[in-house]
Amino acid sequence: MTTARRVLVTGGAGFIGANFVRYWSDHYPDDRLVVLDALTYAGNLANLASVSDRGNYKFVHGNILDEAMLDDVMRQQQIDTIVHFAAESHVDRSIHEPDAFIQTNVVGTNKLLMAARRLWLDSDAAPETHLFHHVSTDEVYGTLGADDPPFTEHTTYAPNSPYAASKAASDHLVRSYHHTFGLQVTTSNCSNNYGPFQFPEKLIPLMIVNALTGKPLPVYGDGSNIRDWLYVEDHCRGIDLVMNKGQVGGTYNIGGNNEWRNIDIVNQLCVSIDAAFSRDDRLAGQFPDAPAASGRKTESLITFVKDRLGHDWRYAIDATLAQSELGYNPKEDFASGFQLTLNWMLQNENWWRAVMDGSYRDWISKNYSAGA
Ligand code: NAD
Ligand code: DAU
Repeated sequence: MTTARRVLVTGGAGFIGANFVRYWSDHYPDDRLVVLDALTYAGNLANLASVSDRGNYKFVHGNILDEAMLDDVMRQQQIDTIVHFAAESHVDRSIHEPDAFIQTNVVGTNKLLMAARRLWLDSDAAPETHLFHHVSTDEVYGTLGADDPPFTEHTTYAPNSPYAASKAASDHLVRSYHHTFGLQVTTSNCSNNYGPFQFPEKLIPLMIVNALTGKPLPVYGDGSNIRDWLYVEDHCRGIDLVMNKGQVGGTYNIGGNNEWRNIDIVNQLCVSIDAAFSRDDRLAGQFPDAPAASGRKTESLITFVKDRLGHDWRYAIDATLAQSELGYNPKEDFASGFQLTLNWMLQNENWWRAVMDGSYRDWISKNYSAGA
């Protein structure tokens, strides 16, 4: 990328968006970054604290469903690049309350595409070049059996949850704006991310928080479901490569080549937490409710709970296209990425305590109870 871009990052106060903003600001300091976020339960300005005093950064509190606001921001900031993260992202919530997923992920994506089309294709103020990058998920491909090959870009879409269906619809909309109107787009479909600033409703941060506070570790079903885990910064690098080197109109799978059964992840996490407490005496004082603080094993908290409805059994990404065409490869393996994440959670207790408010706890205990 040679000339400075004016980049709109939707959903930039969420987990991956905030990591991406930091990544992009470090790698492309001349680019103007405008973060647009509705600050839902998952959005948090604290996630952006490390970039908020940088000169080329602006935060806009707004909803992608608001067309007039989108037009204003796009025009005033002369946006030429959009990286679209904003979404409802949690599968369990989509099972219990699907409507918000259709509104933000489908209708909201269409509003953003319409705003991009109005400014970039239909107005005198069109920038010389433009790009709409859409951040999507491997869940659009559905579920795999034990012997199935991993998802490629040619795997048929077969979304199983309302979340996955809403993301699949958004992928199709992005594709159609390229085909029909000539909007310059790229799409990436990524596997499960983990790392700093992930909201503690997702498996890894939830288990860490519960282990440190002495609460049950709720494993859905028998824990045999498999996910392909990727450290969030590797996802950000993958997006960068797709945006800079990918074919316009193309889609690329990004993954970690790192399949784990949920129960193995949780067991590994328990062992790592026990080891951290053994290494550092101060942790027992900081987290007195953790079993590890009194020499008990963290695994004693593991509790099998009723399964997620329609729970996809296995996801796995074949990232060959991104590897061969873009030179993509994850830098972190699971051991290093997980240690970075655990250290971050141990050092950022204030962050996770602040986001774990009462309403979230009520929601999770209402929908997932032990022993079922
Ligand atoms: P997240 O839930 O942590 O963050 C979503 C952000 O979007 C929040 O800041 C929220 O306030 C904002 N937002 C929600 N609705 C909005 C609206 N109507 N207008 C403006 N902002 C709104 O999500 P995440 O885990 O960071 O995921 C980001 C994107 O990456 C999503 O599109 C998701 O589908 C995709 N993705 C996530 C993963 C993963 O493992 N987390 C993997 C692959 C793809
Ligand atoms: O694959 C990419 C997707 O990964 C993203 O598109 C989604 O936005 C993201 O939330 C994630 O979806 P999952 O449903 O795979 O992630 P989650 O962390 O919710 O669950 C991971 C696995 O762990 C899944 O098999 C369900 C299980 N699980 C989850 C929670 C929260 C448990 O067993 N117990 C739990 O408490």
